[in-house]
Amino acid sequence: MEFYEVLKKRRSIRKYKKVPVEQNKIDRILEAVRIAPSAANFQPWHFLVIHDENVKLALKEAYGREWFHSAPVIICACGEPSKAWVRRDGKNYADVDVAIAFEHLVLAAAAEGLATCWVGAFDPTVVRRVLGLPDGIEPIAMTPIGYSDEAPRPVSRKSMAEIVRRDRW
Ligand SMILES: Cc1cc2nc3c(=O)[nH]c(=O)nc-3n(C[C@H](O)[C@H](O)[C@H](O)COP(=O)(O)O)c2cc1C
Repeated sequence: MEFYEVLKKRRSIRKYKKVPVEQNKIDRILEAVRIAPSAANFQPWHFLVIHDENVKLALKEAYGREWFHSAPVIICACGEPSKAWVRRDGKNYADVDVAIAFEHLVLAAAAEGLATCWVGAFDPTVVRRVLGLPDGIEPIAMTPIGYSDEAPRPVSRKSMAEIVRRDRW
């Protein structure tokens, strides 16, 4: 699929078919994640690919929406701030790096004809416990991956004039 078509096709999907996702698609999506850029190329990230129904059910306590657990696969993206590049003023770039890799994931999934939805509104303490994350590894975002079972309504965006300024603020 042409790149700009993928950008337009990607939407947050909140209803998934009970159809398994082909492993070769998951592999290509993870390769898209692997080659994502990161500050100083430090790659301070980890991705947990969840198929196990028991783990998915346990994640209900962290994020209760039914559509989240009904997808055949869930991916949890984690950051490792101690391995991330830190700017001189102390800003740690782990979250930025993970977000970039995660959007590679989401766009690659769209290119494969698969649906996703960024999920950030989970309880991180529960996610840490359910997934057994060690100290220093932070869950940043999760997404279901599967085949869409809905046609999402059109979504609005700010106009170009609202978000782009020329030369100075
Ligand atoms: C960082 C981030 C966190 C999000 N967290 C959630 C979430 O917890 N639950 C949810 O249903 N959607 C979540 N979304 C999806 C947004 O609601 C969605 O991207 C936005 O409404 C625009 O719609 P679209 O993705 O279909 O273009 C999140 C998106 C981003 C980028």
